[in-house]
Amino acid sequence: MRQAGRYLPEYREVRKSAGSFLDLCYTPALAAEVTLQPIRRFGFDAAILFSDILVVPDALGQSVRFEEGEGPILEPIRCASDLAKLDLAGTEKIFSRVYDTVSRVRQDLPKQAVLIGFCGAPWTVATYVVGGRGSADQADARTWAYLDAAGFGELIELLTEASISYLDGQVRAGAEVLQIFDSWAGSLPDSEFEKWVISPTTRIVTELKARHPHVPIIGFPRGAASNAGRYIEATGVDGLGCDTAMSLVQMGEMAEHGVVVQGNLDPLVLVAGGEPLERRTRQILTAMRGKPFIFNLGHGIVPQTPVENVERLVALVRTEGT
Ligand code: CP3
Repeated sequence: MRQAGRYLPEYREVRKSAGSFLDLCYTPALAAEVTLQPIRRFGFDAAILFSDILVVPDALGQSVRFEEGEGPILEPIRCASDLAKLDLAGTEKIFSRVYDTVSRVRQDLPKQAVLIGFCGAPWTVATYVVGGRGSADQADARTWAYLDAAGFGELIELLTEASISYLDGQVRAGAEVLQIFDSWAGSLPDSEFEKWVISPTTRIVTELKARHPHVPIIGFPRGAASNAGRYIEATGVDGLGCDTAMSLVQMGEMAEHGVVVQGNLDPLVLVAGGEPLERRTRQILTAMRGKPFIFNLGHGIVPQTPVENVERLVALVRTEGT
C-alpha cells in the first residue's frame, strides 16, 4: 500500500520543493528520497516505489495533473474516437525517469529490504482516464464499457500493453516484487469483472512471468469480495492484497489457495490509534498466525495519520507478530 505521503513532515518538505506532484514522480533524486523516507523512519521490510498509477496515462499523452485537495484531474477520453489522442510510442521516454528512480532506490535501500514496483490495473486506470477524475461510482467508465465494449476494450488493451512494458522496465531497473493496484475492482458485476479485471490482469501476469519468472506479483482487487478466489485462480498472482472489508475468515481461505495474503488493517484505525488499533492488530495477527501472511494496511495510509501511531503499530507487530 501507499506508505509515503503527507502524514510525514519530511515528505511535505520535499513535496513543497518539487513543484507539482508529477514533477516529484519524474525527478528521480526526489522520488527516490520520498520512497526511502518511510524505510528510514520505521524500518519496514519493503519499500514501494514512489510514483503513481496515473503516470501511465500521462506517458500515453493524456494530460494529467494533481490539484491540492481535489486529487487527479485528466482531460477525459470518452469514446473510441478519443483513443487517437493516446500513443504508446512516447511512453518509454517518460517511464525511463521512473526506472531511474528504481535503480537509485535499490542502490540506497538496506540489502535486506525488498523493493516493490507497481502499476495500476487497466480497469482502475481506465476509470480515471474516462472519468477525468476520481469518482465514487466510476459511472463514466462503466457506462462506456456497456455501450461500446469493443471501443472500451481498445482502451483496456492499450493500458495493458503500456503496463506490461512499464512493469518490465521497473524489474530491469531493480524492482524485486510487483504489485498491481485494482482499487475499483469492486464496482463491477461478475461478467464485467471477468472482462475488465481478470482478463487484462491475467495477460499482465502471464507476460511478466514469461519475462521474469522469479519476480513475485501481488494483486490488489479492492472490493472483489467473493470474486477474490476466482481472481487468484485465473490471474496466477503470487500474493493477494486484502482490503479492509475482507473478513479474516476469507483471508485464511485465500491463504489456502496457495497465495501469500497481505492486509487488511483499516487505515482509519491507524489514525485512531490506542486500544482500537492494538485490539485489531492482535486480531489480525492471531487469525493469520502460521499462515503465509504479510502484515499490511487494507488501503493506503491517509494524511491525518499520527506518526506515533505508525511507530506503535510497528513495535507491536515486531514483538507479537512472530
Ligand atoms: O508509498 C507510496 O506512496 C507509493 C506510491 C504510490 C502513490 N500512489 C503515490 C501517491 C502508489 C502505490 C499509488 C497508487 C495509486 N494512485 C492508486 C492505487 C492505490 C490506492 O490507493 O487506491 C490510485 C487510485 C492512485 C491515484 C491517486 N494518486 C489519487 C486518487 C490521489 C489523490 C489522493 C490524495 O491523497 O490526494 C493520488 C495522489 C498520491 N499518489 C499521493 C501519493 C503519496 C498523495 C499526494 C500527496 O500526499 O502529495
